[in-house]
Amino acid sequence: MLEIKDLHVQFHTSDHEAVRGIDLTVRDGEILGLVGESGSGKTVTAMMIAGLLGEDRARISGQILLDGTDLLHAGGKELRRRQGKDIGVVFQDPMSAMNPVMRIGPQVEESLRVHTRLSKEQRRTMALQALEDVELEDVEAVYRKYPHELSGGMLQRVMIAAAIISGPRLLLADEPTTALDVTIQAQILELLRRLNRQRQMSVLFISHNLQVVRKLCSRVAVMEQGRIVEQGQTDQVFFHPQQPYTQRLIAAIPTRRKIHG
Ligand SMILES: Nc1ncnc2c1ncn2[C@@H]1O[C@H](COP(=O)(O)OP(=O)(O)OP(=O)(O)O)[C@@H](O)[C@H]1O
Ligand SMILES: [Mg+2]
Repeated sequence: MLEIKDLHVQFHTSDHEAVRGIDLTVRDGEILGLVGESGSGKTVTAMMIAGLLGEDRARISGQILLDGTDLLHAGGKELRRRQGKDIGVVFQDPMSAMNPVMRIGPQVEESLRVHTRLSKEQRRTMALQALEDVELEDVEAVYRKYPHELSGGMLQRVMIAAAIISGPRLLLADEPTTALDVTIQAQILELLRRLNRQRQMSVLFISHNLQVVRKLCSRVAVMEQGRIVEQGQTDQVFFHPQQPYTQRLIAAIPTRRKIHG
C-alpha cells in the first residue's frame, strides 16, 4: 500500500542528509516496526510520509507511493486530501501535540473539519464514536474537557481517536508510548493491535523499545544514519541479524541478567 523509493531528505540548515536514499514498503494490514539509534532518521521519514515536511525546509527527492499515487509529486491539494484522509499520525507527547485552550471534541474532529463537508452534528457523532473506539469512558464528558483535565494515557487515546476518525488505511505511530508508564503503555499497545486487526489498518510503529517491537510487529526495518541497513520478518531479524549494527542493537536490549550483572 505504501512504498517509499530512494527517499533523500536534507535540511537546508544541515550539511548532510538526514535520510540517505531509503526504500521501505508497508504492506496492507501489517504492523511494521522502524527501529534504530537516535538521529538515524525515523521521525524525518514519518514526517515525510505524513506530509509534515516540505521543500521550504529541506531538499527532498525520491518517491512516496500510496496505492500508486506519488505523494511527493501529487498536486498540493490532492496530497493534503490523501494525507489527511488515508494517513493518521500519533506522536510521542500527546500534551504538546494538543492545543491546551481548545476542548477535546473539536481537536478530535480536526481532520473532518479540514477534509470533509460533514455538518457540525455529523462531526460530533463521529468524534464520540472515535472516542468510544479507543475505549474511553463517558465520551460525552471527555468531548467537553480540556487537555489538562485528562491523564497522559487518556490523552494518548484522544490522539489516536483524532488520528483514526477519518478511517485512515495507515497509522504512523512515532514512539506513541514512550511518555507513558508501563501499565498504560501495555494498554495503548493492545489498543493499536486491536485497531490494526479490526480495521485492517496498517501501522508504521517507531520505537526504541525492541521488546515491544518484537511482540507487536510482523516485520521490522532497522535504520542507521539515514539508511535502512536491514529489514525482514521480525523473528528473522531478531534471531539472525545480518548486519553488525543490528547485532549490536539487539545485544543492547536490557535483560534482567544484564541489569543485575
Ligand atoms: N528540523 C530539523 N532541522 C535540521 N536537522 C534536523 C531536523 N530534524 C531532524 N534533523 C536531523 O535529522 C536527523 C534525523 O533525525 P530524526 O529526528 O529523524 O531521528 P530519529 O531516528 O527520529 O531519532 P530519535 O530516536 O531520537 O527520535 C538527525 O541528524 C537530526 O539532527
Ligand atoms: Mg524520532
